Amino acid sequence: MAQRETWSTRTGFILAAVGSAVGLGNIWRFPFAVGDGGGAAFLIVYLAFIALIGFPAILAEFVVGRKTGRNPVGALMEYGGEAWKYVGGVFVFIGIVLLSYYSVIAGWFIRYFLAGFQGSYADHLASYNGEAIEMFFDMTFGMSSVVLHTVFMAATIGIVALGIRQGIELAVKLMVPALIVLLVGLAVWAFTLDGAGAGYAYYLSPDAGTIAENWATLLPAAAGQAFFTLSLGMGVMITYASYLGEDRNLTKDAATIIGFDTGIAFLAGLVVFPVFFSGGIEPGEGGPITIFVSMTEAFANIPGGRVLGLVFFGTVVIGALSSAISLLEVVTAYLIDEKGVDRWKAAGGIGLLIYVIGLPTTYDIIFIELYDGFIDAVLLVFGALMVMILVGWVAPKVAVAELEKGIGDLDGLAQAWIWAIRVPIIIVLVISLYLGIVDY
Ligand code: PFF
Ligand code: NA
Repeated sequence: MAQRETWSTRTGFILAAVGSAVGLGNIWRFPFAVGDGGGAAFLIVYLAFIALIGFPAILAEFVVGRKTGRNPVGALMEYGGEAWKYVGGVFVFIGIVLLSYYSVIAGWFIRYFLAGFQGSYADHLASYNGEAIEMFFDMTFGMSSVVLHTVFMAATIGIVALGIRQGIELAVKLMVPALIVLLVGLAVWAFTLDGAGAGYAYYLSPDAGTIAENWATLLPAAAGQAFFTLSLGMGVMITYASYLGEDRNLTKDAATIIGFDTGIAFLAGLVVFPVFFSGGIEPGEGGPITIFVSMTEAFANIPGGRVLGLVFFGTVVIGALSSAISLLEVVTAYLIDEKGVDRWKAAGGIGLLIYVIGLPTTYDIIFIELYDGFIDAVLLVFGALMVMILVGWVAPKVAVAELEKGIGDLDGLAQAWIWAIRVPIIIVLVISLYLGIVDY
């Protein structure tokens, strides 16, 4: 068998991980999760989750991936023993299902992007008598949804089929910087809008009073969003770390990646909320269709809304693509490592299956409602819990040794990491998982 590929540079690895993390989770899901969760109360629990659990969790996935140099099924089995391959199997399953609908949603963003070329958002809206919800259902379901899902999956398969260096690394080197520049540009533009002040006030005004009352729904929602946005709980970070050729400081890389993901979610909020308020839109609880409905209504009412909309929807597509390739890479790596399939066939074959599984989602919003809340708040939390048990209890010494490679002696900090995982983090995750199941 050919030698396993590695990233060509440290930056390549970081950009790939940032590209995976930054996506629909930051721009499509984050604003409505904040809205549904009650604003600042949600934000506080979410940020605590990212810092206290997301950081140790991403390190745990890195350690397992770099130590074993394998896909999640092989990695968990080698690290924890034969029975762990079933947990790896769950990860591959999550990857397949998650990508199947992620691609459909990305297709909707392509549709809205194209709409900006066809006419102003105000014109589009007018032809639906101002009913943005009707416009959404008409524009995004049926044939165009199938076509754009096809296009998006084809692009994802093409990049993954080209391999780690020629495909994924090259793609993220172009996409991630572009995404950041575009989003910063949008945030600056949003700052100049009339309603910007009201938008910031809504977004940033602290109102922690509801945490104590609503913790039973806040906790699983924040956990689900935290793992979803960081691409944790299904082996993406295991897989990407498995392509690390040399030992480097994983804690630094983890902090960089989390910093970017959180920063970009925050930046997305600085775009979305001012745009809402300038367009006279109350951010409400609209779930998965919120961003489409509210942003079009807003873009229809803002001078320059057409250009702003084009850039906004286009930016989201770039972010979605750099995340989708990481989902497909998990499944592809499994087929290559464990089944000896060659990369082109693996990516193409499983990509086609994922494409077919996504087809029903192109017809009805009910599928998104079915997946959202279950994949993130149940399955990803379950996956993260499993990795924590593996690293914290099954083989903690191996984890400490692996973490210290490329850093040197961490003087007890690595032990602190293990202890945080062993008891407090596992308890919080068990509670979140239980509440996530109950809520669903
Ligand atoms: N992190 C991606 C986002 O925020 O859009 C979504 C995602 C990718 C979730 C990969 C999970 C995953 F394994
Ligand atoms: Na994200």
